[in-house]
Amino acid sequence: MNKVSFSFGAAFGKSALDSCALRAKYEASALEAQRWINETSFDTEGHGWMALPDCSTAQVTETAEWLRGYDSVIQVGIGGSALGNLMLNQALLDGFYNETEAKPKFYLADNPDPDKTRSIWERVKGGRVALVGVSKSGSTAETMTQFLWYRDEMLKKGQSDKDILVITDPEKGIFRAFAKDSDCRVMELPASVGGRYSVLCPAGLVTAAALGIDAAALLRGAAAMRELVSKETDFAKNPAMRLAALHMMHADERRPMSVLMPYSSKMAYFAEWYAQLWAESLGKQGLGTTPVRALGSIDQHSQVQLYTEGPDDKFFTLISLKDHGPEAVVPNIDHEALKPLEYLNGQGIGAMLNLEAKSTAAAIVKSGHPLMWIELEKLDEETVGALVFFYEYLTALTGRMMGINPFDQPGVEQGKKYTYGLMGRAGYEKDAEEVGEWFGKIAADKVEAF
Ligand code: PA5
Repeated sequence: MNKVSFSFGAAFGKSALDSCALRAKYEASALEAQRWINETSFDTEGHGWMALPDCSTAQVTETAEWLRGYDSVIQVGIGGSALGNLMLNQALLDGFYNETEAKPKFYLADNPDPDKTRSIWERVKGGRVALVGVSKSGSTAETMTQFLWYRDEMLKKGQSDKDILVITDPEKGIFRAFAKDSDCRVMELPASVGGRYSVLCPAGLVTAAALGIDAAALLRGAAAMRELVSKETDFAKNPAMRLAALHMMHADERRPMSVLMPYSSKMAYFAEWYAQLWAESLGKQGLGTTPVRALGSIDQHSQVQLYTEGPDDKFFTLISLKDHGPEAVVPNIDHEALKPLEYLNGQGIGAMLNLEAKSTAAAIVKSGHPLMWIELEKLDEETVGALVFFYEYLTALTGRMMGINPFDQPGVEQGKKYTYGLMGRAGYEKDAEEVGEWFGKIAADKVEAF
């Protein structure tokens, strides 16, 4: 497989280090981190994502087939239980999937918003609906509120728990208890796999497969990338090690932002997915770099002024796609007033996007800022699976090199506990009190504008 390439030539910007110095400074810790990832049992909490490329897709395929019998599927989930699906669907399905003839229609209810909740229901209520609840913990309030609301609507219209699938921890949580005590279907989100590393397990694969995405090919791509990044011990030939080291170096040199800018509308959610993976895995103990999602070419007309002439505080990664699929070619000019546009005759819109990616990269590098260039042959399941695995490995590697645990998320858990407390969940009374104290501080100095 040779569908993804990494170009490091401009990755140093104004740094005093070069490739040799980078290697000398970080090779030992990169190799130690690689060994740690490879040699820690994949059953250990947090490490299960390493084993996912080897999993059988038989149950995923069977459940996807069942979902295909419905008119619509609503998935409820948030964070790692949603972004992976949004990313896969956008990358691999028609941009207006729900407006095509394809079935089932698919709606992802992640951010809780009564307007969105109701509006999804209005679209699906006339047909048979399957409800898919994805939650590792099986208790996240955003997911549970929406799950309960949709379930109730389904029961009111004569559907039953047999139309529900929950994907959750094998033992723990309210979803698991509900699955044990009802007629709903259930699949495992392995105990050793954390939410943001779960896209290649049933949490990400089941609804993707129901919509026509080839789950086995995603895993094949991931396995091929794992072969490279986990086995290659030559620092120079291992793009994950080199990129992790570069992120360490730029963080040390006070470039606290990591911008990911794909030049493809189909990869906007890839940047979102990456942002969660990077921020939640690495933002700990006062460390971490802030992921910034950008999209070419929209952000060329929004952010690139800052990127070129603003402070030298960012490390850029641009992703370019060689083949955007069937080209939309500009026709020959047939109107006098449009003659100045003749230079566009016969040019493809995808080809133009690729030239713009190069132009932006060149402008950023000319300004002295560090930039990595990733090129994908095309967006298919293998390539996406490979890129997903690459970023998971890169994140875990970087976290280990930083000396933090890339698989926990104590800050997120704190917010969840505060919400439980405020919503009256037993056992979280102290958390509710704490929110009151902190929020009292916020509200103590207030200006009433109107
Ligand atoms: O990566 C994580 O652990 C989080 O982002 C979770 O995915 C998110 O908070 C949702 O949690 P859960 O799947 O337990 O509902």
